[in-house]
Amino acid sequence: MDNRVYIFDTTLRDGEQVPGCQLNTVEKIQVAKQLEKLGVDIIEAGFPISSPGDFNSVVEISKAVSAPRICALTRAVEKDIDVAADALKFAKLKRIHTGIGTSDSHIKYKFNSTREEIIERAIRAVKYAKKYVEDVEFYAEDAGRTDNEYLARVVEAVIKAGATVVNIPDTNGYCLPADYGEKIKYLFEHVDGIQNATISTHCHNDLGMATANTMSGILNGARQVEVTINGIGERAGNTSLEEIAMILKCHYNLGLSTGINTEFIYPTSRMVSKLMNMPVQPNKAIVGKNAFAHSSGIHQDGVLKNKSTYEIIDPKDIGLEADSIILTARSGRAALKHRLSVLGYNFNVEQLDGIYQKFLEMADKKKEINDEDLLLLVGVDVKKNARIKIDYLNVTCGVNCKHVACLVLDIAGEKFEECSSGNGPVDAAVKALKKIITREMILQELNIQSINKGSDDTCKVHAQVEYNGKRYYGFGSDTDIVAATVEAYVDCINKFDINKN
Ligand code: KIV
Ligand code: ZN
Repeated sequence: MDNRVYIFDTTLRDGEQVPGCQLNTVEKIQVAKQLEKLGVDIIEAGFPISSPGDFNSVVEISKAVSAPRICALTRAVEKDIDVAADALKFAKLKRIHTGIGTSDSHIKYKFNSTREEIIERAIRAVKYAKKYVEDVEFYAEDAGRTDNEYLARVVEAVIKAGATVVNIPDTNGYCLPADYGEKIKYLFEHVDGIQNATISTHCHNDLGMATANTMSGILNGARQVEVTINGIGERAGNTSLEEIAMILKCHYNLGLSTGINTEFIYPTSRMVSKLMNMPVQPNKAIVGKNAFAHSSGIHQDGVLKNKSTYEIIDPKDIGLEADSIILTARSGRAALKHRLSVLGYNFNVEQLDGIYQKFLEMADKKKEINDEDLLLLVGVDVKKNARIKIDYLNVTCGVNCKHVACLVLDIAGEKFEECSSGNGPVDAAVKALKKIITREMILQELNIQSINKGSDDTCKVHAQVEYNGKRYYGFGSDTDIVAATVEAYVDCINKFDINKN
């Protein structure tokens, strides 16, 4: 059996389905290019029938990257497949990913159908997709809860119809690792012609077993894994790419390899986290902020004597160069440029000049500038072109005094000023903002976090604002909590009128 495990990245499809993680086409291209550097084999770029934005993203990603195969998702519906084929027209290497639910629950409640009819629909969809592309992947949705005997019949039928890859999703994250592995083994033992297709895992993390299930699938013969950066995805997420890549690297004695350039793992993780406004949990395996931080005295003592005592991964292997993360006000443009490029951002001289000025301003307020800070600076630069910007904000607050905020917004070049009092500085500033922007909007959630430690730290604010029955997610950062909050609120408002392209 082949000892290469193919990495199918679905950050831009399953990952992007998460509320608040939506990216526009430009951002998706940025992620796709980074995934190309990372060395993924397949990029699932979207679900083209679902929206014009998704369609357009698949088109543009197909033009922007050439090494990875570009994949588009469909239901087992002819119209979906027509649209996916059209979206893939510029892809050098392309794949259509079609499928249907196969568990009794899906057959009965989703499709009001029968097992026999579902097999017929699966065969028809694969044959139809084959008219457009050679490489057709079939997914048996909720395969995790599908009876093995019936699943084997479905898999055999779709391979016969021409499927080159068959995906066995544990859609609800239900399986135990032993059972999921057993399922894959069962298919290898009972499906005629299985050697003509690659078997793929696609595990969700509802019970925290996505990575274990994926490994169990690999150990029983699966040679493609469907994963996302930072494990983002529906509900509790998908299997995380970095975990599988590093497990296979650390356990090289398994004799299995991937094409992942692991030194791009950390920058990719941070880029996705930043663009999707989705913080990485500090204790996340491989890419969490604490993944290499030894805090107990016993561990620190061991690591100082020899790193191998408590470190199974060299941080450099994932692109984390501990000694070069910290930049200060004395750092020059070259150091900034180098660190930004490690993080996946390449700017021309003029853009770099702008970011360098902001870097110096931040470095004046904050002694050390780390990767998180840099990503915030880059984000600020991206927001420069927004329609509504904060021009001025002054807040009076304290104990036994009235909390007052005066705010000037620049809306498409015109200045609007309002002041308000409130029951705290944040409330006063938000009230001033709502005097300028009088739309019916409701602040649903405000999440204020500091990045590191210290009273000079930058804080990050995630805001959710409801407007016209839809939720918008915004992000702001500043050493001033009130300014960061207003920025996050304004970020939401800037998204109201933009049709996702
Ligand atoms: O989880 C799932 O079953 C999916 C399929 C659409 C592949 O994401
Ligand atoms: Zn999924």
